[in-house]
Amino acid sequence: MHHERIRLSSLCDKIVSAEEAARHIKDGMIVGMSGFTRAGEAKAVPMALAARAKTEPLKITLITGASLGNDLDKQMAEAHLLSRRIPFQSDPALRKAINAGEVMFVDQHLSETVEHLRTNQLGPIDVAVIEAVGITAQGGIIPTTSVGNSATFAILAEKVIVEINLTQPVELEGLHDIYIPTRRPFRQPIPVVAPESRVGLPFIPVPAEKIAAIVITQKLDSASTVLPPDHETAAIAGHLMEFLKHEVKRGRLTERLQPLQAGIGTIANAVMHGFIASPFSDLTMYSEVLQDSTFDLFDAGKLNFASGSSITLSKTKYDEVMPRITDYKSRLILRPQEISNHPEIIRRLGLIGINTALEFDIFGNVNSTHVGGTHMMNGIGGSGDFARNAYLSVFVTKSIAKNGALSSVVPMVSHVDHTEHDVDILITEQGLADLRELAPRERARVIIANCVHPLYRPALEDYFARACARGGHTPHLIEEALSWHVKAREAGSMLPDGAALKIA
Ligand code: COA
Repeated sequence: MHHERIRLSSLCDKIVSAEEAARHIKDGMIVGMSGFTRAGEAKAVPMALAARAKTEPLKITLITGASLGNDLDKQMAEAHLLSRRIPFQSDPALRKAINAGEVMFVDQHLSETVEHLRTNQLGPIDVAVIEAVGITAQGGIIPTTSVGNSATFAILAEKVIVEINLTQPVELEGLHDIYIPTRRPFRQPIPVVAPESRVGLPFIPVPAEKIAAIVITQKLDSASTVLPPDHETAAIAGHLMEFLKHEVKRGRLTERLQPLQAGIGTIANAVMHGFIASPFSDLTMYSEVLQDSTFDLFDAGKLNFASGSSITLSKTKYDEVMPRITDYKSRLILRPQEISNHPEIIRRLGLIGINTALEFDIFGNVNSTHVGGTHMMNGIGGSGDFARNAYLSVFVTKSIAKNGALSSVVPMVSHVDHTEHDVDILITEQGLADLRELAPRERARVIIANCVHPLYRPALEDYFARACARGGHTPHLIEEALSWHVKAREAGSMLPDGAALKIA
């Protein structure tokens, strides 16, 4: 049975039901599961665990690559299965449990999780659950639409459960490049010198005897939830293109630019679409998640190569791309997230990193994670890995949120994910602020003039003028710096008294 997918025939008798496989996971265990930005997650075992948690005491620490699809985080959170969740999520039900203090969420740079595991900062992984296209004749696990942290989970775990997903095309084999850094103190340089560098194996090497169970599944990845570009995201893309053209004119970039990285979500995906009508060509990506825009850029003849850790597509794009995956395969690599997000490689390749802010302040500090300074949205994800190490670190956001009730440019951010030292360029639909080589007072002037919505510009100008009168290298009215957030919490809006709400 399934010999074309399980080529080591001795493993065929390990096939069991999801419920039976899930029995390897006991209360209090640390479990590593595949899955990265809703792609390639183990699907059947987590559902079986969620069902079990409703009838017996069962709580686990769950570590994944990043967010999961198929409402798995929702089901596990609602079944109270999760005591601790690492390193990223994007599910509203889990978000609620995190913000209620029920689930301890460790919001972590995505490149770092497996380093912590390797050095035993978080106990051993008891069980790894990995979705696979198949198993090689030597017992190697062939991942599906994401690699994430799966390789290290499988290598470090006591036991491995493999979910063979029959809906994932066998043609995905050969797409992956599994490279595991050597142990310290003898670590060698990671030999990735270009987005297309192949430096590892096309499967996850694990001793076959560690595979404790195999589950056959047929559930598709969830479609991505990104919205199509709108006129504001198109304006953000337009400002970025103008800036990059200027950089080419100044001789700081060529028309091939530098390898591109784009963050998750609607805004980053829309901004990447902006490259389709741009003068730039022969582009490459060294990124984390490859969204619809990556394949649109391939089809438009703009993109030569893309390296990532997952492929997360809308339903329409998935139906278009997956049957033709062999056409794209020679131009794609999926890597472990510690390699796709590795500071050494990001700095070596000189990336242009484009990530999304929830809000930023007049000096360029960026908050990507916390609403109102306290409530978790998704997590920092890979944005910190890229922002600190990119050649150009770009953050994009719309200048206002919630129909104008919130300004995305504030006197002081209510939570800092990316400090002013890690941010080069800020863009809203209003315009672009180039912060390179500017001192804080100069940064504030450029940000207020170029990025702020007109509804909020006079109030920020007034704040900054009064702060400057008081003095300081980074002038602030400390007692007033978070008053915009206080007002939003108490009155539901940051708008100055008397200003009319913008109806989008
Ligand atoms: N204050 C409060 N909420 C805000 C806000 C602000 N200043 N700006 C935006 N929001 C809200 C939006 O209203 C929207 O809320 P909704 O879901 O209730 O409609 C939500 O944030 C998402 O905003 P959206 O405009 O749809 O942007 P997005 O889909 O591009 O996501 C982030 C933006 C910041 C949430 C997302 O990019 C993220 O999680 N980033 C951090 C991780 C990361 O960058 N990873 C990639 C690294 S490779």
